[in-house]
Amino acid sequence: MRDRLEELRRRALERIADADAGALDELHGALLGRSGELTALLRGLGGLPAEERPLVGRLANEVKSAIQEALEARRDELRRAALEADLAGAGLDPTLPGAGRPPGAAHPVLAVARELQDLFRSLGFVVWEGPEVETEEHNFDALNIPPDHPARDVQDTIWLVDEPGRPRLCLRTHTSPVQVRALRELGAPLQVVAPGRVFRQEAQDATHEHSFHQMEGLVVDRGIGVPHMLHAMSVLLEHVFGRRIETRLRPGFFPFVEPGFELDARCPFCRAGCRVCKGSCWVELMPGGLVHPHVLEAAGVDSEEYSGFAFGLGLSRIAMLKWGIDDIRWMMSGDLRFLGQFPAQAGR
Ligand code: PHE
Repeated sequence: MRDRLEELRRRALERIADADAGALDELHGALLGRSGELTALLRGLGGLPAEERPLVGRLANEVKSAIQEALEARRDELRRAALEADLAGAGLDPTLPGAGRPPGAAHPVLAVARELQDLFRSLGFVVWEGPEVETEEHNFDALNIPPDHPARDVQDTIWLVDEPGRPRLCLRTHTSPVQVRALRELGAPLQVVAPGRVFRQEAQDATHEHSFHQMEGLVVDRGIGVPHMLHAMSVLLEHVFGRRIETRLRPGFFPFVEPGFELDARCPFCRAGCRVCKGSCWVELMPGGLVHPHVLEAAGVDSEEYSGFAFGLGLSRIAMLKWGIDDIRWMMSGDLRFLGQFPAQAGR
């Protein structure tokens, strides 16, 4: 009996090793099935002397497991071979290393925006966003920009097609309309920053793009004056650049501030003038001023009780200065050779 079991094992394993998928199913039945060879052998077990039965029984179990394992292993082998043949037919080589995925990085403008939002939140500001399609009222009228102001001209502003009976719409030319929106919505006193994309009808060059990013800052409270504005500007610049940068303040005109200023930074690209600073060695960084009483009133704030300062930060400009980017057109280029140069963790 034992010999016949051993013999069965030997033959079974041999046949399994050569079997194809169809033959495997048949073998399973022929060996282990109800009328299979092993089953038939086991029926003879009862006729053995009692003392031999446990030994032979154990051997029979061993043979059964060996056959089951061999069937399973052969099935796996056939499956893998079929898969590999499929892949090879499709021109795929599963043994080549994977393509991997390069780590992403924040766009430099986004990185600067996030950094500044974190800073201003820590100083108690709220972050407020306005729409990119803006009404003429928010973008111009409420900001004390007179109807005949050249900024409203189609040469500067991208207007949407007029719909009779509806307010005129444009792509906002600056983030200043968010001053009005935030004041109307949140009231005074208020500390707010408003980052976002703005649009202008520009002839493009190294420092001009039709779309770029600004961040508006606005503080309205009792007794706010120019020193508050200067302090906010210097905290901001030191935070972004991590060092003191040389700046100068000069008068600047914007209808929505009075007095108005331009804060310039020493051009980081040259000593004697270049295309970024247009030969002047200074680049405009951050205009600002005290909020014009007309703007406060248009936003429903009592200008006798409250005053405020506002600044408009060019986020794209800041990113350019921070990383030495000498042409604003890189920002919208989508060029991975450019974007890949910023640290993956910039702006998290
Ligand atoms: N909105 C102005 C611009 O885009 C900048 C500015 C903002 C000036 C706030 C003064 C105060 O040019």
